[in-house]
Amino acid sequence: MKGITLPVLSIAVIFAFTITSCNNQPTADQMETTQGISKATFGNVDGKEVFLYTLTNKKGTTVTITNYGGIVTSWKAPGKNGDTSSIVLGFDSLSGYLAPPPYFGAIIGRYGNRIAKGSFKIDDKAYSLAANNGVNHLHGGNKGFDKVVWEGTTESDSVPSLKLRYLSKDGEEGYPGNLAVEVVYTLSEEDELKIEYHATTDKPTVVNLTNHSYFNLTGDVNNTILNHELQIEATAYTPVDEGLIPTGEIAPVKDGPFDFTSATKIGERINSVPGGYDHNFVLNADSSLRKVATLTDSASGRKLEVFTTEPGIQFYSGNFLDGTLKTSAGKVINKHTGLCLETQHFPDSPNQPAFPSTLLLPGNTYHTVTVYKLSTNR
Ligand code: GLA
Repeated sequence: MKGITLPVLSIAVIFAFTITSCNNQPTADQMETTQGISKATFGNVDGKEVFLYTLTNKKGTTVTITNYGGIVTSWKAPGKNGDTSSIVLGFDSLSGYLAPPPYFGAIIGRYGNRIAKGSFKIDDKAYSLAANNGVNHLHGGNKGFDKVVWEGTTESDSVPSLKLRYLSKDGEEGYPGNLAVEVVYTLSEEDELKIEYHATTDKPTVVNLTNHSYFNLTGDVNNTILNHELQIEATAYTPVDEGLIPTGEIAPVKDGPFDFTSATKIGERINSVPGGYDHNFVLNADSSLRKVATLTDSASGRKLEVFTTEPGIQFYSGNFLDGTLKTSAGKVINKHTGLCLETQHFPDSPNQPAFPSTLLLPGNTYHTVTVYKLSTNR
């Protein structure tokens, strides 16, 4: 950007919009020409148009998000060596997301993570959901919020933001109540990607929304995340059974492989956790927006800090990535090439009365905020 004169910049902007109307995804160079938000056609799903929105801040950091599944498809900001490859796993085209990828970058709902045996009760009325993960229900069912087309509106007055709306009908995927959901993504000048979730219902229901981005701060899936260091503000976690359903116990992390109270290499103790990390950490402190986790990668100098109002975070070390998927550039996505830090209420809360409640009643508003802040130590 530096040194580009105004006329050249204008031509670049016009070019970017021309490209947009030709249904192509803007290239990285075109995306960085202007601060704000641009919209390009990305394809069609369920007879609805799907777009790719590019949020760009003054630093030139870009985050691309599609209204299909609310998926964050890329996040590009230079590492210490100047490389700007994406720090989240994703694809360049919509088709990559249509064969079921493992929830790359998506908004997860109506209930993030698992509900045991796909059943729960509200006021003694039983509800039955799809068993789409062995005998259990995972990430909202067969067609969760990650697989629907959201309605998008953009704002770029101060900082670029994208508002996504979706009405989940009463009975959709077995859940009660018409649930009106709104998710707002905002990219700040400080490279913070803020995700704000709102929902209201007309019948008592359960809600637990999250984002399922897989981070790899090296920006290269040839590297695993095992050398990343992680720190989590959690002195306890929720142990699980073999189906990854919490046993109900809130166990201390102290001195075991779940102790991330100080920054620790993920690979250091992963072998003592059967299957790898896929656990909910019980976050310290109240539900104000506070820092709950820090992920660093010394090779790229990148640091990702996570802030949330949620009581839990699912640290998932990409255990089920098995080399069957490839990036758009043809690189194989192997085990542990991305990790998720899914801010959330605890898994299976509808069946665990001692866990913070996920019940949403008519007249109340579900509201949570999560911020991922990226920086680079040069
Ligand atoms: C979550 C779950 C994992 C797995 C992934 C998606 O993180 O906890 O067990 O299902 O989503 O593959």
